[in-house]
Amino acid sequence: MTHAVPTSFVVFGVTGDLAHRKLIPALFDAVADTNDHDVRLIGVSSQPVGAAGVQEIVRKSLADRGNRGSTVARFVERSTHALVSRDSDTLDDLGRQLREIEGPGPNNRVFYLAIPPGPAASISTMIGKARLLDAGGWGRIVLEKPFGRDLASATALNELLHEYFSETQIYRMDHYLGKEAVQNLLTFRFANPLFESTWNRDRIESVDIRVAEDIGVGERAGYYEKSGAVRDMIQNHLTQLTTLVGMEAPSSFTAEAIRDSKVRVLESVRTVATRDVVYGQYASASINGELVPGYLDEPDVDPGSKTPTFVHIRLAIDNWRWQGVPFYLTTGKRLHERSSAIVVTYRPAPVCIFHGREDDCPIGRNTVTLRIQPHEGFDVGFSVKDPDPEMQVVSKPLSFDYSDAFKDIPDAYRTLVTDILEGDQTLFVRGDEVEASWRVYEDVLEPAAAPLPYPAGSSGPKLS
Ligand code: BG6
Repeated sequence: MTHAVPTSFVVFGVTGDLAHRKLIPALFDAVADTNDHDVRLIGVSSQPVGAAGVQEIVRKSLADRGNRGSTVARFVERSTHALVSRDSDTLDDLGRQLREIEGPGPNNRVFYLAIPPGPAASISTMIGKARLLDAGGWGRIVLEKPFGRDLASATALNELLHEYFSETQIYRMDHYLGKEAVQNLLTFRFANPLFESTWNRDRIESVDIRVAEDIGVGERAGYYEKSGAVRDMIQNHLTQLTTLVGMEAPSSFTAEAIRDSKVRVLESVRTVATRDVVYGQYASASINGELVPGYLDEPDVDPGSKTPTFVHIRLAIDNWRWQGVPFYLTTGKRLHERSSAIVVTYRPAPVCIFHGREDDCPIGRNTVTLRIQPHEGFDVGFSVKDPDPEMQVVSKPLSFDYSDAFKDIPDAYRTLVTDILEGDQTLFVRGDEVEASWRVYEDVLEPAAAPLPYPAGSSGPKLS
């Protein structure tokens, strides 16, 4: 089926890293694989790069799609440029350029703001004032995270967007929601009564949500210095994982029902207190014989900066399902590995029959480890008798790996861009949801004192 109305996919920040690495390849794959959308990429910038400049950017970012020569060539050829002036406070001229590119007849339009959070608010307003979403077809606007920098600014940004757009036109990105293993959390929980029937305070002792990165802040200090690990990772990615692990079953598999359930669990999360947070910051250390800089030595970082690059938070969820079960959220940069996983630890067996003494019980805890990346899959950790004649109980995993069962795992951006084109908001954060998640961290966005230093390449500061 070909969509009768063509779509302009208008990208602000087309010359930036996000567009080059993620967005353009994702858009190409979404369009090329389905043949379902007549989409033209229109790159917007204040540099007069022209159509040729945008086509060069697109060609470069699709360099590894060489085996799809003619499809790439067509996509590149149709990509074009629109120029905006840095000083202008309207986007009326952009409207004129879009109409010229699109020609007569109705068009769908997506405005994707692949730009830092600062200018995103003023550009959204200008798009709204110039009524650019209205070109005779549907219109959608996409904003990257972080959405605001605290509860007040996120609320203000929501109010501003709602002056011009309906909630069904607003797509708030959190790319973790597009990751296959994250989407699978709903299937894992709600298609497998085996697990779901034990998924509560009666059986579960704790939930650990960990996102470890081995990279440092690199060239992004301009953004990161104002953000830090709570705003950059916890309020969005790790909180989204928390909602999917903690929510009640939605009444149906629809965007609104799923997002209603996510908001409900967030409303039960207690506002985090300072005593429940450990902040860290990586210090220079040698990794594989190479000395890597500490955070304070990175370019554009204030030498006295207190920006945390590591956070460990204890969340409490005050509802019937989770009362008393700690959710530990941990994330950090320059750690010893890149690995994201959710570990659900079950309570111990109520009685230990294997040894005489309670405190000497050899039975480990049952665990469910949901591996998000790399090596997507999950492990159920259980106890098994070692065949050794001496009675021994050991813990072993029962594992499932995506790579054994499925051919390809689509990239998160590819999934999300397809959903934007299809108008499916399930994997996008709703306005009330983003506000509910900022509320949880209101008091702990920044540390009061200097964060604990940890050596680059380690597992973070010591947690007592
Ligand atoms: C981004 C953060 O949202 O997610 C980055 O701004 C972080 O600081 C990145 O590195 C991690 O994403 P992924 O998909 O590599 O885990």
